[in-house]
Amino acid sequence: AIDISSLRDETGFITLDPGYSNTGACESKITFIDGEKGILRYRGYDIEDLAAKSTFVETALLLMYGELPSGERVARFREQLTDQQLLHENMRNHFEGFPPHGHPMAMLSAMINACGCYHPELLDPEMDDERLFHAAAILMSKVCTIAAFAYKMTSGQRVEYPDPSLSYCRNFLHMMFSRPHRRYEPTPQVVKALSRFLILHADHEQNCSTSTVRMVGSSGANVFASVSAGVCALWGPLHGGANMAVIEMLERIHQGGESPRTIVEKVKQKKFRLMGFGHRVYKNFDPRARILERTARDLLATKAEPDPLLDIAHELAEIALTDDYFLERRLYPNVDFYSGIILRAIGIPLNMFTVMFSIGRIPGWIAHWYELYHDPQKRICRPRQIYTGPAQRAYVAVDERA
Ligand code: ACO
Repeated sequence: AIDISSLRDETGFITLDPGYSNTGACESKITFIDGEKGILRYRGYDIEDLAAKSTFVETALLLMYGELPSGERVARFREQLTDQQLLHENMRNHFEGFPPHGHPMAMLSAMINACGCYHPELLDPEMDDERLFHAAAILMSKVCTIAAFAYKMTSGQRVEYPDPSLSYCRNFLHMMFSRPHRRYEPTPQVVKALSRFLILHADHEQNCSTSTVRMVGSSGANVFASVSAGVCALWGPLHGGANMAVIEMLERIHQGGESPRTIVEKVKQKKFRLMGFGHRVYKNFDPRARILERTARDLLATKAEPDPLLDIAHELAEIALTDDYFLERRLYPNVDFYSGIILRAIGIPLNMFTVMFSIGRIPGWIAHWYELYHDPQKRICRPRQIYTGPAQRAYVAVDERA
């Protein structure tokens, strides 16, 4: 039984909303979602238009500053991104201290937080557009270098330094896949698929990691600490880690372990969840999944070898989408169902999938941190609880305990 007095606070009753499915924690002008109609817009622009016509750098500026930027602004920001590509030598040394088989997500969150040590001028509580521009360039640029270095380190390869002559996506691909005396030249389709992947992951209103960034930021914590916390929240398999879990599941099926139908039956028996399916907000379809499904198909068409996992994914989706279990619960493929297939086709290893999601989500996290910074209604996040533990008890000395 719940003690009703514990539901009261000074303003009346407390609502109990586990997982905050029905709690609006803030007002926001950044991203609009209509889960019933499958609509996603950044600052009023349809995700389909942005995915087809914009670049990741332009979309990042749109999210952070609210308007599509002028060509001059994009060019200036690209210069800042280039200026920030290299890591401080001490940060490089910091890398050497990680065990070679450490998880790249742990490295990423630690290194992002460490950025604050190298930019004390940005820890100052005063923030304006120009300072945010600077912090955003540091975060967006260094996160690529950190991610690629983490990959090279965990795979026992020599790191590749950034190339300032390359665009954002090309430079990242170069740091990931070039080798000594063997420069990697991506096809335009690979660059396009990566750019689209990043655009589609750039923001998604008050999801778990973004809410974490806002929660941490509400205490006045700086942008590096807040974004680093967002990376930690994204790591979980129910959030950003789902793209890895999808590929593991598809590989299990491919290697002959189980058929798609058996997997679906086990899901229905609640033995595990169908990864890449279901969404807290989208209840008919996830528009990002539709775009990525097409992108995966187009990208794989350019490859000499087709990826059997795409066919398995289609088969699984076909079975699930005609099954009452999924229909009644309104479970549809989400963005992660196809994103892993794209990352695989690009050559990104499995343990880097969630890192890739983080690179995409950085602008969204920064945009939310900055929006909160300016929010006149800002208060430190401090949810309440319904206490269900024991009532008052008398302390028992250690030698008198049963
Ligand atoms: N497979 C099987 N059953 C599911 C799934 C799934 N993927 N997702 C939800 N369900 C079922 C639940 O078991 C529950 O069934 P019940 O009513 O019989 O108990 C019902 O659907 C409702 O589930 P909830 O957990 O209440 O849904 P919620 O909105 O809290 O969860 C979530 C959303 C976390 C995305 C969930 O659908 C899930 O775990 N999906 C798999 C992981 C995944 O793909 N995550 C990526 C999300 S997108 C992103 O982060 C970018």
